[in-house]
Amino acid sequence: MSFDLSVFSNKNIILAVTGGIAAYKSAILVRRLKDYGFNVRVVMTQGAQAFITPLTFQALSGNPVHTELLDTEAEAGMGHIELARWADLVLVAPASCDSIAKFACGLADDLLSTLYLATKAPVWIAPAMNQQMWAAKATQRNLSTLVEDGVHVIMPEAGSQACGDVGLGRMPEPEDLAEQVREYFHKAQRAIAEKFGLLAGKKVTITAGPTREAIDPVRYISNHSTGKMGFAIAAACYSAGAEVTLIAGPVSLDTPNGVKRLNVSSARQMLHLSMNQLETGCDVFIATAAVADYRVAEVAEHKIKKAGDELAVSLVKNPDIVATIALQDKRPFMVGFAAETRNVEEYAAGKLVAKKLDMIACNDVSRADIGFASDENAMTVFFAEQYEMEKRDLEKASKQEIAQQLVEAIHDALHQEKRPV
Ligand code: C5P
Repeated sequence: MSFDLSVFSNKNIILAVTGGIAAYKSAILVRRLKDYGFNVRVVMTQGAQAFITPLTFQALSGNPVHTELLDTEAEAGMGHIELARWADLVLVAPASCDSIAKFACGLADDLLSTLYLATKAPVWIAPAMNQQMWAAKATQRNLSTLVEDGVHVIMPEAGSQACGDVGLGRMPEPEDLAEQVREYFHKAQRAIAEKFGLLAGKKVTITAGPTREAIDPVRYISNHSTGKMGFAIAAACYSAGAEVTLIAGPVSLDTPNGVKRLNVSSARQMLHLSMNQLETGCDVFIATAAVADYRVAEVAEHKIKKAGDELAVSLVKNPDIVATIALQDKRPFMVGFAAETRNVEEYAAGKLVAKKLDMIACNDVSRADIGFASDENAMTVFFAEQYEMEKRDLEKASKQEIAQQLVEAIHDALHQEKRPV
């Protein structure tokens, strides 16, 4: 299963272009599909080549364009049967009246019609034609046959047409088509993750980023945490089938696909929302946030004016979020993090016990190449005594890969807790 659900580098799409003025939009469609990470191969009918050249699609897709059925050279490369098997989806856009009629009759007199019969992949068609041709009884009859045969029809839109008519028959914009394809594969992957993923059915809450403790209305105390590790873990948990809530301090990161994000500022807000999660259900709590240890005792109501050479601000201790959650009656599986500059393992092991955690991941933030602002990390993971688990060293890797390994560690621990005999 791919880690990032927005990238579909293992999914193959055949974009079949038939004869119609909307063929120019298909060039942009290839770009958008490639942007999402899909592998795209383009098949063109004779009619399509009157509107746009194969070279355009070859350049955009990065693959040879397929135009001939009975061409020995083409068949020696990727023949029509291989092409039919390669596809995870066949998208015919634009689909002309003629191609629709051929599919409905089961003709096999060119590459596309043959491919249509030979593929097991879902077939989507985006009809585009003159509004009168769209409304013609024969076209509608053929479309009904295709729908009965399981073809997905992307309805044409109404508007002014290249021929001067106004009515139904315009192909939807390429961005919309690409988005529909993305959504389809996203849902399919999600369904698999929810059934078979390592955290299928689990509710996971993750704290991430720094907290911000106000001094006055314009100033605050905070730290350099970027939230990258927590966001990567949220994405990995979602990919593993979990329902994920991310309680994020102020960071400038996009919310991972499918993840519910709650923004907070201070440690106390973070604690409040974390406690709420226990009410709504939480199986795993992962504390990656760099929570400010102290907050200002009394936040000034107005901006503090410059006066004198020194300014004393009194600080009081913030609540320990992870330790507070761990003390609750119905506590989730608790995962903490330890960032240390020395005696890393010793301090981490101490925190595991002191905060009553089930698992702790620790890293050495004195190393410039990993940790805080870096895109990479390396960690050692310890488990509480009641788990039959040795410590795990996660070698230096991208935060995404480390997140994936942490998900595996959580899954293994959830399945290996020693049961009383
Ligand atoms: O005590 P220390 O800050 O080193 O502990 C780090 C771990 O505890 C992290 O998992 C962090 O998210 C969590 N923590 C917390 N609330 C605090 C301080 C730390 O949840 N106030």
